[in-house]
Amino acid sequence: MAKILIDGGKPLSGTIKVSGAKNAALPIIAGVILSTKPVKLTNVPALNDVTTISKVLEALGVKVARTSNNCYEFDASGKISEEAPYELVKTMRASFFVMGPLLARLKKARVPLPGGCAIGVRPVNIHLKGFEELGAKVSIESGCAVAIADRLIGTKIHLDFPSVGATENLIMAATLAEGETVIENAAQEPEIVDLAEFLNALGAKIKGAGGPSIIVEGVKELGGGTYSIMPDRIEAGTFAVLGAMAGGPIRVENCNPNHLLALTAKLREMGASIECGNDYIIAGSEGRLKASEVKTLPYPGFPTDMQAQLMTAMCLAEGTSSVTETIFENRFMHVSELSRMGANINIHERTAVIHGVKALEGAPVAATDLRAGAAMVLAGLVAQGHTEISQIYHIDRGYEDLVGRINRLGANITRIEG
Ligand code: UD1
Repeated sequence: MAKILIDGGKPLSGTIKVSGAKNAALPIIAGVILSTKPVKLTNVPALNDVTTISKVLEALGVKVARTSNNCYEFDASGKISEEAPYELVKTMRASFFVMGPLLARLKKARVPLPGGCAIGVRPVNIHLKGFEELGAKVSIESGCAVAIADRLIGTKIHLDFPSVGATENLIMAATLAEGETVIENAAQEPEIVDLAEFLNALGAKIKGAGGPSIIVEGVKELGGGTYSIMPDRIEAGTFAVLGAMAGGPIRVENCNPNHLLALTAKLREMGASIECGNDYIIAGSEGRLKASEVKTLPYPGFPTDMQAQLMTAMCLAEGTSSVTETIFENRFMHVSELSRMGANINIHERTAVIHGVKALEGAPVAATDLRAGAAMVLAGLVAQGHTEISQIYHIDRGYEDLVGRINRLGANITRIEG
C-alpha cells in the first residue's frame, strides 16, 4: 500500500497553486448527460474521483476524452443507458449525481444506492423526495434507486435540510423539466453556483444559486460549450491552515478568498496573519496560535470539510479549543490519529475539546477519510520527527499531487508506492 513519509519541523514558505474544485467538477461532469452537444471542461482536477465519475459516464454511453491533464471533452449525443453500474457507484458516493441528469434526459434512471461511508450514514432521501415532487415515481429495487416519469413538471420543493448533493441533483433534474421549479432551503455552497453557471452556459435558465431559493425555468434542451471549473476552496483552506501552523508565509494562489471567509476569520482570531487579494491568500504566523471554538454549519458557516485541518492547528494552539460537528454524525476519526501524535483531545458527543500541547511527535498514522488524511499531512509537517501515513488513497481522492506541491514549500515529504 502506498504511504506518505514526512520528516516534520522544516520551515515552510513559498507559493502553492490551488487546483480545480473536486466538489464542483463531480456534479458538473454528471451534468454533461443533460446535453447532446459537445462539452469541454477545463481546470478539472486530476483526481481519482474525477476518473471514477468519467468512467460512470462512459459506462452510460457518453464519449469521454481527456485531452490534457486538466481538460476533458464529452460527447453525450449517442444512446444513453438509464442504468449506472454498481461496481463503479459503490466506490464513490458522488456517482449518485447521475440520477438527476438521467431522469431529466431519459425520464428514467436506475442508480445503485451509494450507501454510507466512513463519516456517516449519508442517506439520499432528500434527493429522492425531490424527484417525486417533480413527478417521478421512485422506488427502491434490489439496492437501486429507480425513478420513472412520463413528464417532469416544475414545482415548489422545500428541502428538509440544505443538502449540497440534493440541491445539485434537483437543479439538474429541473433543468429539462416543464415549467418553473423553485428549490427552497437550498444549499448555498459556491459549488452550487458553479454548477448553475455551467448549466446556464449551456442554455439552462437557473437563477438564485448561492442563495436559499433557487429558481429553475425548464428548457427543452441544452447546447454545448466550454466551462472552467472553479478553484477548490477546501484545498485552498487546507494550505492556509498549513501557513498559519507552520509560520509561513505561504501564498495560496488561484483561489477565491470570498469562499473562505469563515475560515480566514477563525484563523485571524487564532492569531494568524492572513492577507487576502482577489485570487490569493497569504497565511503565516509568528509564535504560537491561540485557542478558539468552532461549529460546522452549512455554507456560509464553517465547512465540515475544513474541520479536521483546523482541529490540527488547535492541537498546538495555546489554551483549550473546541470543535462541534453538526453536519456528519461520525466525523472525528482523525481524533484518535492526532492523539497518537501527542494531541490532547476529548470527545463529548458531537464536540471535541482540544487542550493545546506545545509539540506533536511524528508517528505512524492512518488517513481515515479524505480530510482526516489532509489533517495527518498537516500534523506530520509540523511535528517533531518522522510520520508515516497509510491509507493515502483517501488523500488521492481530493488532492492533486499533494506531495509534490508541498515539497516545493521546503518540506521533507515523500510518497512511496507499496
Ligand atoms: C457534499 C460534499 C462533501 C461535504 C458535504 C457538506 C460533494 C461531492 N461532497 O456532500 O465534501 O462534506 O457536502 O458540506 O460535494 N442528508 C440526508 N439526506 C439526504 C442528503 C443528505 O439526511 O438525502 C444528510 C447527510 O447524511 C449529512 C447532511 O445531510 O448528514 C449533509 O449532507 P449533504 O449536504 O448532502 O452532503 P453531500 O452532498 O453528500
